[in-house]
Amino acid sequence: MSSPLPSATNKQGQSETQQASTLHHSEVRIRPEEVRAYDDSSRKPVLLAFFLALVWLLVGTVLGDLSSFKFDRPDLLTEQAYLTFGRLRPAHLNVMVYGWASTAMFAVSLWLMPRLCRTTLRWQFAAVSGILVWTLGLGIGLVLLLAGVSDGLEWLELDRYWADPLLVLGASLVGASIWKTLGARQVQHLYVSVWYIAASYPWFAIIFIAGNLPIFKGVESAAVNWFYAHNALGLWLTTVNLGLIYYLLPKIIGRPIYSYWLSLVGFWGLALFYALNGMHHLIGGPLPSWMIATSITASIMMIIPVVAVGINQHMTVVGRFGAMRYSPALTLAVIAAMSYTAVSLQGILTALASVNRITHFTHWTIAHSHLGLYMFVTLSLFGGMYYILPRVLGREWPSPRLIRAHILLAGGGMVLYVLALGIGGVLQGLSLMNPGEAFEISVAQTKPWLLLRSVSAVIISAGHLIFVYHCWRLAYSSRQGHAQHPPFFELKPVLVKKGSAS
Ligand code: HEM
Ligand code: HEM
Repeated sequence: MSSPLPSATNKQGQSETQQASTLHHSEVRIRPEEVRAYDDSSRKPVLLAFFLALVWLLVGTVLGDLSSFKFDRPDLLTEQAYLTFGRLRPAHLNVMVYGWASTAMFAVSLWLMPRLCRTTLRWQFAAVSGILVWTLGLGIGLVLLLAGVSDGLEWLELDRYWADPLLVLGASLVGASIWKTLGARQVQHLYVSVWYIAASYPWFAIIFIAGNLPIFKGVESAAVNWFYAHNALGLWLTTVNLGLIYYLLPKIIGRPIYSYWLSLVGFWGLALFYALNGMHHLIGGPLPSWMIATSITASIMMIIPVVAVGINQHMTVVGRFGAMRYSPALTLAVIAAMSYTAVSLQGILTALASVNRITHFTHWTIAHSHLGLYMFVTLSLFGGMYYILPRVLGREWPSPRLIRAHILLAGGGMVLYVLALGIGGVLQGLSLMNPGEAFEISVAQTKPWLLLRSVSAVIISAGHLIFVYHCWRLAYSSRQGHAQHPPFFELKPVLVKKGSAS
């Protein structure tokens, strides 16, 4: 294997059973032909989902850029109704969440499950059909959304009758393939990534159906809306990506994860507390105070799983951070893992009523959103793609320079985005809270920070273009008979200049 041998000692003094659960199959010295058979079985749906995810990433980027520019030039593109902010913003949200992130998560789940269950992917046809049905649903929903047909609930704007049933069917078909594969597993112990990924599919189906039931009115509807949206973050986007990071970190550096018990605390703590968090989006709203108080308490309790996951992942990598120079997948997984801790701590702070009073109606929330959905979710998915695509295609990324450029532009650009809106948001909130200042002053104060966000939008978009171009070159090079490097490139220095690697 490419990675150094795993350490045989376990610092936690775990039993054999627990130890087995901290290892994934890389440590069990699996034969390369077997791994190839698993990858072969998932190749079709994985490549299809990654391809569609990249298309959605580009569409979502254009929609995000336009939404951002409109804050600087409110008169920009206002002639056509479908180009107005009220349509572009939800279109951006839906395309990024359901198009880019979720579709890439299908690919990640379908690739990881056979490897971790040591069996081939089952019901491949269901997986492929599911991805196509999901894409059709999103496409229909997006056209309707731009045409002005929206359910009017944030994160649930896609049409309840034409789009949502297709999304449920699509995710269920992919989930069926995942669960069938799980049922056919050839391992006794389930690695932590399997818990997260397998659980995400039924969770998503339950919350999405509950969120879309057309039976709630008024305040009830707002409560169910945020029950859904918060759990879409916590029990779907977060869980699949934590599963991916739990796979990448130990696999690339060649060590078992630090502690089985911390994995358990992290998983069950999240399952228990996250579902109760949703009402913290409505602090100050006309809901019974016990609902808000429960959600604030549950938000504070999130410190337990967040710290457990943070320590577990940090201690797994500690002493081996240098390996990041050689592996873009590890670099991105480490940044994403750290961002998960950061966004969660920021979220816990934001859920405190005293802080939320200042930040609620400000750009601070958008900074938080993108710290979570970009620096954690999107970077983890980029890391997954850097790791998975060469293995599925059986060849190496053509250009380390393009990898460096992509990571610097996308990651650096988003740091700028988050800092600009984080600072601008607090200043805006303090100004809004000041009875001596007119509302216009709070608006004027945000202008330079919004301009900075638009600058970062251009930088990030350049990163996305480079990434998509590089993926295209990776795929295209096969037809040109590109040299068949073994698809293990952790040992090659891709993030340091030639000659500077020690
Ligand atoms: C090129 C990169 C991106 C740019 C320029 C961008 C820009 C924007 C803008 C301008 C808004 C509206 C903010 C407002 O209403 O005040 C927004 C909202 C949002 N974006 Fe992005 N975005 C980007 C990437 C992403 C990605 C990759 C995701 C998800 C994976 C995402 C998810 C969201 C969500 C969920 C919201 C709503 C946030 C909230 O209501 O708090 N964005 N984005
Ligand atoms: C312990 C963990 C977390 C807590 C306690 C938390 C808390 C919060 C709070 C209180 C808000 C509402 C802010 C407001 O409207 O005033 C919020 C919004 C948001 N959070 Fe978190 N957060 C956590 C983790 C995350 C993670 C991991 C992600 C991304 C994967 C994330 C993404 C978002 C997004 C996108 C919004 C904006 C939703 C919208 O308005 O459209 N959060 N969070």
